[in-house]
Amino acid sequence: MKIFHLAAECYPVAKVGGLADVVGALPKYQNEAGLQAAVVLPYYDRKFVQENDFDVVFEASNKLGNQRYEFQILKERTNKLGFELYLIYIPGLLDRPEVYSYPDEREQFIAFQLAFLDWITWSQQKPDIIHCHDHHVGLIPFMLQHSALYRRLSKTATVFTIHNGQYHGAFGYEKFDYLPEVDMRYAGLLDWSGGINPLACAIKCADRYTTVSPSYLEELSQNSNGLEYLFFMERSRGLGIINGIDTEVWNPFTDAMIAGPIDALNPDKGKLLNKKALCKHFGLPVNKPLISFIGRLVVEKGADLLPEAFIESLKAHKGEVNILVLGAGDKETETALTALNDVFPDNYKTYIGYNEELAHLIYAGSDFLLMPSRVEPCGLNQLYALRYGTVPIVRRTGGLIDTVIDFGDEDGYGICFDQSNTDEIVYSISRAIALYKNTEHLQLLRKRMMALDFSWTQSAKQYNQLYESLTPKI
Ligand code: ADP
Ligand code: GLC
Repeated sequence: MKIFHLAAECYPVAKVGGLADVVGALPKYQNEAGLQAAVVLPYYDRKFVQENDFDVVFEASNKLGNQRYEFQILKERTNKLGFELYLIYIPGLLDRPEVYSYPDEREQFIAFQLAFLDWITWSQQKPDIIHCHDHHVGLIPFMLQHSALYRRLSKTATVFTIHNGQYHGAFGYEKFDYLPEVDMRYAGLLDWSGGINPLACAIKCADRYTTVSPSYLEELSQNSNGLEYLFFMERSRGLGIINGIDTEVWNPFTDAMIAGPIDALNPDKGKLLNKKALCKHFGLPVNKPLISFIGRLVVEKGADLLPEAFIESLKAHKGEVNILVLGAGDKETETALTALNDVFPDNYKTYIGYNEELAHLIYAGSDFLLMPSRVEPCGLNQLYALRYGTVPIVRRTGGLIDTVIDFGDEDGYGICFDQSNTDEIVYSISRAIALYKNTEHLQLLRKRMMALDFSWTQSAKQYNQLYESLTPKI
């Protein structure tokens, strides 16, 4: 079975968040299971692309409104990532360093989708499945079904995965001309609330849609930034499949980015070694519980609650707890968190920025990882924390409900709370400090969580079953 995954991100080519981790791992596991999965990304002027060899396998031109553009399909020469990687190169449009936030982002992603469809149509390829991830590639199922240009592909099934239902990629009808000629009887499928809404369109048109956890599927009809009614109506076509993690990249026993191996059967020695390295790096004392946060500093992640919650906790447990933050995002939150470096110089540090290596060391060297998310479609941080023997402290939402059990419950290993507010964060931090003091219990929980299996094997099987149910398409 031949599958093309289309997305804006893929680790290690271009990563902003968990989308990249999923698109960089799932196809690898699918190929190991005997499928033929390839990834198609926009071209980015970034390290991986600069340092690896690509061949031009196709070139042509197309139009975006009145504007003609040339494009090339580049293929990475060695398949070293465990899958065929294709980049779509469009000079002036898809040749830039950043993944998002350009003013002409809509044009970029529409041109990307058109070039992909042109390529597989003209080069006579017959994928069984086109698997689209998030709104950036949400118009593919519609175009494939309702533009005569792509009729050849009508037997190809489409799957659309929602990694984040808060973002829709909506735009106005003044850009309608950018789309290929479509059968106007179906143009209404593009619409939600008077605009062209790629996420809504994908939900309506893809053969099946999935979410990255079962709980998130249930939440979308309550909270999806205006699409609640659509999700309510289309609920039966949705399927929640929890993300896995790439256990080769995230292996605490072999990870070259951490200070030393952590053995799942006997984690305490490795944990301490990594904690010492991490604390030394930040000038924090080793013999106190270390609670970390890694992630985008945005409201969705509850990052705006952190400054106040940290001030209260650091005051209430004076000198008894260390807190570390790695992240970037909303400027106000960045400033408020950075200011705490001077208020609590002995017990608190913020690192503003993106740093993959440091993230690995923080998962390895921390005792606890805090995730007070308001919305968390799956969350990978807690899965990395669990694999590295770090107790996750999570708000019960989305994928965090499906992956973390409170240590007070049977077979539990994490700390869970219900509301995203500072009081519950502060209370959960006190529970963490108390747990840390009970060394034996903490050691037991570490072993328990490191024995959990969040590899892709199970979830990749569920995707395969889904694909099989869609092929051959009638
Ligand atoms: P999201 O995709 O919503 O940001 P996930 O939990 O799915 O959340 O994935 C976040 C990914 O991004 C993880 O791999 C995490 O380690 C990484 N990450 C987030 N912020 C940073 C950062 N500042 N530096 C390094 N890695 C980061
Ligand atoms: C999104 C979600 C996150 C999820 C990731 C990968 O970025 O915010 O919860 O883990 O996608 O699916």
